[in-house]
Amino acid sequence: MAIGMSYGTAKPGAVSECTQTPNATFFFISIAATLAYSSPLMKKIKVAQFGLGPIGVESLRLAASKPWADIVGAVDIDPAKVGRQLSEVTGLRSLRGRIVHGSLGELLGTETPEVIFHTAVSRFKAAFEQLEPMARKGINVVSSCEELVFPQLREPALARRLDRFVERKARASSAPVLIPGL
Ligand SMILES: NC(=O)c1ccc[n+]([C@@H]2O[C@H](COP(=O)([O-])OP(=O)(O)OC[C@H]3O[C@@H](n4cnc5c(N)ncnc54)[C@H](O)[C@@H]3O)[C@@H](O)[C@H]2O)c1
Repeated sequence: MAIGMSYGTAKPGAVSECTQTPNATFFFISIAATLAYSSPLMKKIKVAQFGLGPIGVESLRLAASKPWADIVGAVDIDPAKVGRQLSEVTGLRSLRGRIVHGSLGELLGTETPEVIFHTAVSRFKAAFEQLEPMARKGINVVSSCEELVFPQLREPALARRLDRFVERKARASSAPVLIPGL
């Protein structure tokens, strides 16, 4: 399992700024993934969005513009969003047929995302409860949770738990990748 960071200033309509990063590894992974998955012969990465506030919607729009991404659905607990088509939520016709599920369990009942873009909460404590089930399923996660940058600061016990979990998974064959950042 690898841990990286991404930094940026979130502005509506300028999601690419959210993915700017000082971390060269993340940059090269992005470039490599774009090149590798641009070929029509290559399998696309199944992507889901967790949290559909302004940041999540822009994250989804950006992901939908990538040739390597196959958007399989989204999760949000807001009853006003659950059940809606992602084409409605984003204004992108290409996402017609993909829907907002009310929980991760519901999404995983119908889809098998390989990567989840997590844009739901700022606090690590809340994020932990959402991310742990994703990591347990071997799903890679890119999160906008601010406190995930240095979770030891406010939640040392939970951070140690995540560390131990990450180390255990890293010894397994299908270790998920968690990328925390802003
Ligand atoms: N670094 C930055 O510049 C920056 C800026 C803005 C936001 N952020 C981060 O991105 C996150 C998202 O930002 P936003 O403005 O879109 O937030 P928001 O609060 O407007 O939207 C969050 C969405 O997540 C959903 N959600 C909350 N808890 C959930 C759960 N348990 N399961 C499923 N869905 C859930 C909410 O219903 C909502 O639709 C923030 O919490 C923050 O951590 C970072």
